[in-house]
Amino acid sequence: MDRYVSVKDIEQAALSLLPKGARDYYKSGATDEQTLAENKLAFQRLRIRPKCLVGVERCDLRTRALGSEVSMPVGISPTAMQRMAHPEGELANARAAQEAGTIFTLSTIATSSIEEVAKAAPTATKWFQLYIYNDREVTRNLVRRAEIAGFKAIALTVDTPLFGIRRADVRNKFTLPPHLRLANFDGHLSTKIQSTDGGSGLNKYVENLFDKSLTWDEVKWLKSITSLPIIAKGVLRGDDAVKAIEAGCSAILVSNHGARQLDGVPASIEALPEIVEAVKGYNVEVYLDGGVLTGTDVFKAIALGAKMVFVGRPALWGLTVGGQAGVKRMLDIFRTELEYTLQIAGTPTIADITRDMVRHESAYSKL
Ligand code: LAC
Repeated sequence: MDRYVSVKDIEQAALSLLPKGARDYYKSGATDEQTLAENKLAFQRLRIRPKCLVGVERCDLRTRALGSEVSMPVGISPTAMQRMAHPEGELANARAAQEAGTIFTLSTIATSSIEEVAKAAPTATKWFQLYIYNDREVTRNLVRRAEIAGFKAIALTVDTPLFGIRRADVRNKFTLPPHLRLANFDGHLSTKIQSTDGGSGLNKYVENLFDKSLTWDEVKWLKSITSLPIIAKGVLRGDDAVKAIEAGCSAILVSNHGARQLDGVPASIEALPEIVEAVKGYNVEVYLDGGVLTGTDVFKAIALGAKMVFVGRPALWGLTVGGQAGVKRMLDIFRTELEYTLQIAGTPTIADITRDMVRHESAYSKL
């Protein structure tokens, strides 16, 4: 794996290896994909302000998220149907997270079940991403199984009354390859993405099964059926972050769903400061995903107030190039780049990364 020196190297290799249907599904954003590009570009508009001669011999990347210690502030975001990337899919991804000492988040729409993942990576800190199905018994059952299997939090996706338009999936009439199943379900719920009546089979699935009438009241319902902390995933506004907290969420994952829902929304790093500001005074953690590709991206998100960042597609690219070893390589690249960044920026621990370490490029353009 050591021929891959950057996350971008892994991405490029993966894109050349994946079959078209899976590649397009994983890499697409919504409609014109402006936000997809902005997720990355917005990081480049931020400048790091390093401190000199600080004494950085005791560099330490460890931090905590919802009470669990992690070896670095980079975890794995949920992405669906990972066995399209590698035969061991979610199991390999979770094992890599375990090996790296960080968090793995399992998608509801996974090709490995809650129980299989728990068995494959028993000591990893595991979170479960939840979609609320029309059938509340289905939903309740998922949450109960995650709890029993030792998952430590529920990441409730709050940005998805329906799926965004991903044009490539419409053109490809995306379906899950027939040898794969949605492993968290039995019967017809496990095979529904295998048919399409024209466009994307996934969008049809969601239209049929997800509850469009959801409001913040559902978080209260969720609180009533689980003792696990709930993370609101997909928040892009300060007032929504406050609503999430008032409904009982313990953390906010600032995310535009990998730019897959609505084009023209802010890059997640652009949305972060508004949310950090809005939740001041509440005892909640804020995380970010979307467009994170380098150790300096991680650093910038932490400086702007994220407790941790998560990566989704980079794990899919890692899986594609080498299963567990590929994901581990991707995480190791982040770790190395972050170690360098912390030391050269003069902030040897995560707690040292304060808001003043980063400025928007516009602060320098007047010179
Ligand atoms: C997606 C869903 C599965 O973005 O989260 O495709």
